[in-house]
Amino acid sequence: MASATLPTPMDDNQMSRIDPAPATINTGPRDSDLLLEVRDLKTYFHLDEGTVRAVDGVSFTIHRGRTLGIVGESGCGKSVTAQSILRIVPRPGRIVSGEILYHRRRSTSNGTTTDETIDLARLDPQGREIRSIRGNEIAYIFQEPMASLSPVHTIAHQIIETIRLHQRVDYDEARARAIEVCRRVGLPKPHETIDRYAHQLSGGQRQRAVIALALACRPSLLIADEPTTALDVTTEAQILALMKELQQEYGMAIQFITHNLGVIAEMADDVVVMYLGKQVEQAPVDDIFFNPRHPYTRALLRSIPKLGRKTRERLESIRGMVPDPYSIPKGCAFHTRCPFYLREKCADPQYIAVGPNHWARCNRAMELDG
Ligand SMILES: Nc1ncnc2c1ncn2[C@@H]1O[C@H](COP(=O)(O)OP(=O)(O)OP(=O)(O)O)[C@@H](O)[C@H]1O
Ligand SMILES: [Mg+2]
Repeated sequence: MASATLPTPMDDNQMSRIDPAPATINTGPRDSDLLLEVRDLKTYFHLDEGTVRAVDGVSFTIHRGRTLGIVGESGCGKSVTAQSILRIVPRPGRIVSGEILYHRRRSTSNGTTTDETIDLARLDPQGREIRSIRGNEIAYIFQEPMASLSPVHTIAHQIIETIRLHQRVDYDEARARAIEVCRRVGLPKPHETIDRYAHQLSGGQRQRAVIALALACRPSLLIADEPTTALDVTTEAQILALMKELQQEYGMAIQFITHNLGVIAEMADDVVVMYLGKQVEQAPVDDIFFNPRHPYTRALLRSIPKLGRKTRERLESIRGMVPDPYSIPKGCAFHTRCPFYLREKCADPQYIAVGPNHWARCNRAMELDG
C-alpha cells in the first residue's frame, strides 16, 4: 500500500514560514485514501492555575486501512488528541482552533459510493451528527478497558445496543451479529460468554470484549488508546496480532496511541512523536527507528530494551523531567533535556522536512549523526 502523507503542522507564529506543500513530498496515496486530516489542532484546558495547552498545533493524516502510531511520554497530549477527534474532551477542556476533517464514504442503495467531508471540530459535541459517527464510523478503545464497558450490563446488552443504535436491525439479528463479532475476536464460547458481565471475564477476555464492542459496527477508523497496557506480554502479543488481522479483514484505519515504542514497531505504518502537546517528529515507521532526527525521538529509542544487548548494560532514561504543563519552556520545549541544545540555534525551532514524508521540529535535525 502507498505510504501516508503527513501534513505540515503550524505553530502560532510559524504559519508564514512553514513548508507549504506536503503534496509535493507526497509520493503515496491517492486522495481517495485519505480518511482523516487533523490540521493545526489546539485543545486547551483553562484552569485556575493557568492554561494547559494539552494539544498545541498538531497536524497529521490517517489513510484508509493504515495505522498511525502516536507516541510520547505521559502527559504529552495523546489522549486529548483522541478525545478531540471524538469530541469528548472533558470540561473545562475545549478545542480552541484547528480542523478535524473526516472524509466520509457511504454506499448508496444503487451500489455507488458518495464522499463528503465533515469538520468534526465544528460539530456540536452532543449533536446528532457526531453521535452518528462516534462508536459507529469512528470507534474507540479507551486507555482503561473498564471505561469502555459498563459494569452493570452484560457484554451482549452493550454490543447489541451499539448495533441497534446505529443500524436498522431487529434484536435477533443484532444478537447474531454480536455473537459473530465475539467469535471473531476469540472470546471462548461466544454464545455463552456474551451474557456475562465484564467483571466475570479475565483481563484478556475483557480486552477482547472491548475490541468486539468497538468493531460491532465495522468502523472505518478505530482509535485505540493504550489498548494493551494492562495486559501481560503474552496476552498483549495476542491482542496486537488480533487487531492487525481484523484491520485487514475490515479494511479499517487505526490510530494507535501508546508510550511503548516496541508496540509502535509492531503496529504502525506511520508515526507521530509528541512532546508537551506538540508533534516533534513524524515519519514512516522505519525512519523513526532507523533514521530518527529529533533528539527526543532518539532519547526515547535509547530508553527501550533491545534483544542482544548485554544484560548488565543499563538502559538510558531521558535525562531531566517532563516540564510542568503550566510553564512549558520557551523556544524548543525539549531544550531543558536536550544534549544538543545550542542557545543561538534553538530559540525558534522550525518544523522542517528532513526526508520523504519525514519532518522534525529541530533546527539541528540535519546536523546530528545517524
Ligand atoms: N480533564 C483534564 N483536566 C485538566 N487537564 C487535563 C485533563 N485531561 C488532560 N489534561 C492535561 O492535558 C495534558 C495532556 O494529557 P493527556 O491525557 O492527553 O496525556 P497522555 O499523553 O495521554 O498521557 P498518558 O500517557 O499518561 O496517558 C496533560 O498535561 C494533562 O494533565
Ligand atoms: Mg493517555
